[in-house]
Amino acid sequence: MRGYVLKLSLGCAALALSACATVEAGAPPREIAAQSQPTAVGTVPVETAQPDWAATDPEMNAFIDDLMGQMTLQEKIGQLTLLTSDWESTGPTMRDTYQADIRAGRVGSIFNAYTADYTRQLQELAVEGTRLKIPLLFGYDVIHGHRTIFPISLGEAASWDMDAIERSARVSAAEASSEGIHWTFSPMVDIARDARWGRISEGAGEDVYLGSQVARARVRGYQGDDLGAVDTVLATAKHFAAYGAAQAGRDYHTVDISERTLRDVYLPPFKAAVDEGVATFMTSFNEYNGVPASGSRYLLTDVLRDQWGFDGFVVTDYTSINEMIPHGYSRDLQQAGEQALNAGVDMDMQGAVFMEHLKQSIDAGTASQADIDQAVRRILEMKYRLGLFEDPYRYSDNARQDATLYKPEFLEAARDVARKSMVLLKNEGNTLPLVAGAKNIALIGPLADSKADMIGSWAAAGDRQTRPVTILEGMRQRAGEGTRINYVKGASYEFASSGSTDGFAEAVAAAEQADVVVAVMGEKWDMTGEAASRTALDLPGNQQALLERLVATGKPVVLVVLSGRPNSIGWADDNVEAILHAWYPGTMGGHAVADVLFGDYNPSGKLPVTFPLTVGQEPLHYDMKNTGRPYSADNPQQKYLSRYLNTPNDPLYRFGYGLSYTNFSYSPVTLSNPTLSANGSLTASATITNTGDRAGAEVVQMYVRDLVGSVTRPVQELKGFEKVILQPGESRTVSFRIEPKDLAFTRADMSHGWEPGEFNLWIAPSSGLEASAPVTFNLTE
Ligand code: BGC
Repeated sequence: MRGYVLKLSLGCAALALSACATVEAGAPPREIAAQSQPTAVGTVPVETAQPDWAATDPEMNAFIDDLMGQMTLQEKIGQLTLLTSDWESTGPTMRDTYQADIRAGRVGSIFNAYTADYTRQLQELAVEGTRLKIPLLFGYDVIHGHRTIFPISLGEAASWDMDAIERSARVSAAEASSEGIHWTFSPMVDIARDARWGRISEGAGEDVYLGSQVARARVRGYQGDDLGAVDTVLATAKHFAAYGAAQAGRDYHTVDISERTLRDVYLPPFKAAVDEGVATFMTSFNEYNGVPASGSRYLLTDVLRDQWGFDGFVVTDYTSINEMIPHGYSRDLQQAGEQALNAGVDMDMQGAVFMEHLKQSIDAGTASQADIDQAVRRILEMKYRLGLFEDPYRYSDNARQDATLYKPEFLEAARDVARKSMVLLKNEGNTLPLVAGAKNIALIGPLADSKADMIGSWAAAGDRQTRPVTILEGMRQRAGEGTRINYVKGASYEFASSGSTDGFAEAVAAAEQADVVVAVMGEKWDMTGEAASRTALDLPGNQQALLERLVATGKPVVLVVLSGRPNSIGWADDNVEAILHAWYPGTMGGHAVADVLFGDYNPSGKLPVTFPLTVGQEPLHYDMKNTGRPYSADNPQQKYLSRYLNTPNDPLYRFGYGLSYTNFSYSPVTLSNPTLSANGSLTASATITNTGDRAGAEVVQMYVRDLVGSVTRPVQELKGFEKVILQPGESRTVSFRIEPKDLAFTRADMSHGWEPGEFNLWIAPSSGLEASAPVTFNLTE
């Protein structure tokens, strides 16, 4: 962020990570150093770009000193308490007395309350009704739009367009802040590699590098350059940490991963958010290394504060302090509160544990007043930086709200991001775009005309009844008078409809009369998101059976998938002519789908997650390890290799894959130098040519493989990408700069750095070793 003083954090941070972790509750055991690998060479120090707010603003510091000097212990604990209003919630509502609690100064922040009027009303309770008049902070889950809903987060990531993603967050912040919201519980930066996990829809997918870029873009979009501007909001990096690694993809389940995987896979997007200046962090529900995240001093203090220099505040997830009891980590709420505070939690979301028990802990000497003061200060700093002490009502402004919500330019932005998010997975015989001759289109499926489904889960204050444009509406408007769009629902996505053929006859009859069939199928909007894990990834209900009947008519079939996760649509891939993955495309989704189907927009999305052939391949991601017995297509009968008896190892669609209505060719890669020295850099380039007859955008991707390491390394890792727009026949040379630090990882002795040796490098249209021949370079000491 602009104006931040770059500092190298002292002590632990400047050292190798392992050198400074202390052994205490929550700290993972030190791993045994591998056979004396020399790692002083190539060590990459951890840098942080977060300023020390107090040091940069003495006036703020003096104000907060003065205020805290007047606060009682109960008033301080009130600032550490976040409660939901009774408008909505995602878990048990612990207290129905939040208004009385505000008046009593027992709560400092409220979530799930918005509109200028309602936030003003609640703010009045705090400002007029309490002794010290400390304003409330209003938080909310503004995940992919507030009123104007953009594609789900996973869909946005498929655009690989950081400007578009930043714009989406900017619009969300403008709308949310105009309704009195100061703080969004977004971005979710959890890496997700298991499509069974419903929350895969909320993040940026499986990749560390892409996920880190998206995290940064979202933080920039929400917070802008100035938190004091009324149209920006505090962002939250969540859920810290490793929530996406839930065993068997079951939400809230145990996480049991190595510290190396934690550091190399799950932590980097959080670090990227810190570097971008993110204001707050949210803990996760899961345990890491046997310690629930809300009680993990290793995560919340050793890593986040001491190593990364994070200077904002940490909120728990919903009642996750209370949940340390069923986890088996705390014997009662008082102990849970102490453990959370001691670990580094600043604010208790909805559990009322700090509210009810911290005072007793202070009286008993089992919690520290200094920890409470530190947490209060961090929260007051954010309230100050938002300008709430100058004017507590500045965000609750009816005129601004009326002038902001659903602005035409916001709706247009939502349509544009939706088009950019769509991934063309198959297009045999150029079935798409629909040709002018297709005068009779059968539009079939439970998702073709369903407003509620268009905006997906976590759609905040999004309207599911009237605003969303369905695919039927979008196509009818685009196709105009001369084209008949015959819509038949035909099937259901409800699990219970499996086996039923209700509606099939009418759908098949419509297909038989049509020039082309467009089937819109997938998952119901709440089959992904929180608490929405599945053990099957097929098209739910009786959709698959209907799809087979539609294909049997012999008419060309285009499948449009609406879903928040990768589905195992291998049968469709073998049997339909074209497949477009449209995620849940948002308020303007129907127009965006029509733009792509009719060819007004040339699709350019690429998958941010690997699509499996079958659920049995999960968890699945492109950057796996090679193993000692890698499967070889040259020897397909060989049994004792790392393979399945009944299914190939290969996925249905690779990470980074996506087609266009035009074609692109890639030249061989050239390197500026075959050697990369410790203090140097090298440039890898390839020339991309649009060999088709229409303009298109291509996401050019660079992957590397570190061939030998002190620990084994993935078969490929994304290290750069660039989206280029090329006219027919146009060529562009795309260059990527690589420095040794880009090749750093957690080495055998747990230090973070690179190692000399040989590397393969690809510039390619997707992941996959066979995408193009690699070039090789040497990294030298
Ligand atoms: C979710 C969080 C969310 C919170 C507040 C929890 O159930 O895990 O992601 O921010 O609720 O709504």
